[in-house]
This record gives sequence, C-alpha cells and structure tokens, in this order.
Amino acid sequence: MEFDFDALDGKQRYKLLGSTVTPRPIAWVSTLGPNGKLNAAPFSFFNVFGEDPAVVGFSIQHRSEADMKDTGSNIRLHREFVVNLVSEDNLEKMNISAIEFPPHFSEFSEAELTPARSTKIETPRIAESHVAFECRLTQIVPLGPLRSLVLGEVVHMHIDDDAVIDAAKCYIDTRKLRLVGRMEANSYVRTSDILQLPRIPLDAWNPVQS
Ligand SMILES: Cc1cc2nc3c(=O)[nH]c(=O)nc-3n(C[C@H](O)[C@H](O)[C@H](O)COP(=O)(O)O)c2cc1C
Repeated sequence: MEFDFDALDGKQRYKLLGSTVTPRPIAWVSTLGPNGKLNAAPFSFFNVFGEDPAVVGFSIQHRSEADMKDTGSNIRLHREFVVNLVSEDNLEKMNISAIEFPPHFSEFSEAELTPARSTKIETPRIAESHVAFECRLTQIVPLGPLRSLVLGEVVHMHIDDDAVIDAAKCYIDTRKLRLVGRMEANSYVRTSDILQLPRIPLDAWNPVQS
C-alpha cells in the first residue's frame, strides 16, 4: 500500500505518522501563565536534538490562529519551560493534564500535581516526574499555519537520586525510571522490554569471509 501525502489532509497524515512513528517519548511541559498560574500538558511530538548546546524540541498543534494552546502562549510570554518525563506511575496524572481545560484552570490543581522549585528558571517542575529538564526558549519555528516547533536549551536537569549509578560519569539507570512512550491513539508502551545490540567497530566489520 502506498500513501501519497500530497493527496491527504492534515488529519489523515497525522493518523499515518502518529501510528507508525512510535514509540514517542512524552514531554510533559510545565509553564507559567500570565498571573503566575501553573500549566502542564503532554506533547509527544517531542525529542532531543543536540548536546552542545543541549536542545530539546516539541511541536504544538494550535487550536486556532489565535490560540497556540496555553503552553505555547506561556512560553512566548516567559521564554522558558520545563520538560518533565512521564513514567508508569504518573501516566494517569499526565492524562488528566491533557484535558482541554480553559486557560483559567490549572492542570496542577486538576491533576493534583506538586510544583517543585526549579534551579535556574522561574517555572516550577512537576515533583511527581522522575526526570525534568529546565529549558530556556531558543526559538519557535512556524511549521505551518497551525503547527509550531518549540526549541529550548536545557540549562539544568533533575533526576531521582536512586536512578543515578555514577554522577561523576553521568551513568543513569534508565530502567529504574520506568519511562513510557506513546504509541498510536490512546496507547502507551512500557520501556521494560530491552534488546541489547553492541555497536560494530569498523575494523571488526568483515561480512564477506574469504
Ligand atoms: C500523550 C499525549 C500527547 C500529546 N501530544 C501533543 C503534541 O505533540 N502536540 C499537541 O499540540 N498536543 C498534544 N497533545 C494534546 C495536548 O496535551 C492538549 O491539547 C492539552 O490540553 C494542551 O494544554 P494547554 O492548552 O494547557 O497547553 C497530547 C496529548 C496526549 C495525551
């Protein structure tokens, strides 16, 4: 089967991409609103793009030309945000925070999330998350009339102590974090089914035995 993306509308492309580019990590983004109101929402069009500088990005589907979702408007205003990662034990709270609440609601109250002070930025992180990245806005790239890519530089990281194997060597026990990924529609995947595959050095590559 072939799909001609030129012949499809946005919804159809979303369905095809969203159900195949999987699993996707989830950025549970906390932001500060105009009156210091705390906001949180998940974004699975998300990934990391660099380390020097350390850049993460996620993309927002605007509700309309005037409404870039609360997350987008807040980031425009304060030029910072926190990416909190989602684990099995906070998946349900993440789902509550995805409800399309109007701006005067705080997802922190609705989902009973605990704000924790950030170190380098004003925006609090979500204490229930086991890993969080404090980010300063790098740029907002318009991808289309109703889609924007938000890029931020990670300036500080929080992680649960018991997920750190050796801080000096930056060794993390990824499995302890029990992170989840997004599959198609309302499906998620645990990250506990691990495959090991060592990299092959060039000088060990000899597929043709002579
Ligand atoms: C797992 C998950 C992933 C989501 N990913 C995105 C995304 O990548 N982009 C987007 O615009 N909305 C995404 N959403 C929907 C937003 O979280 C939702 O619109 C939310 O209400 C936005 O909140 P805000 O107005 O407080 O920013 C996702 C929802 C869920 C449950």
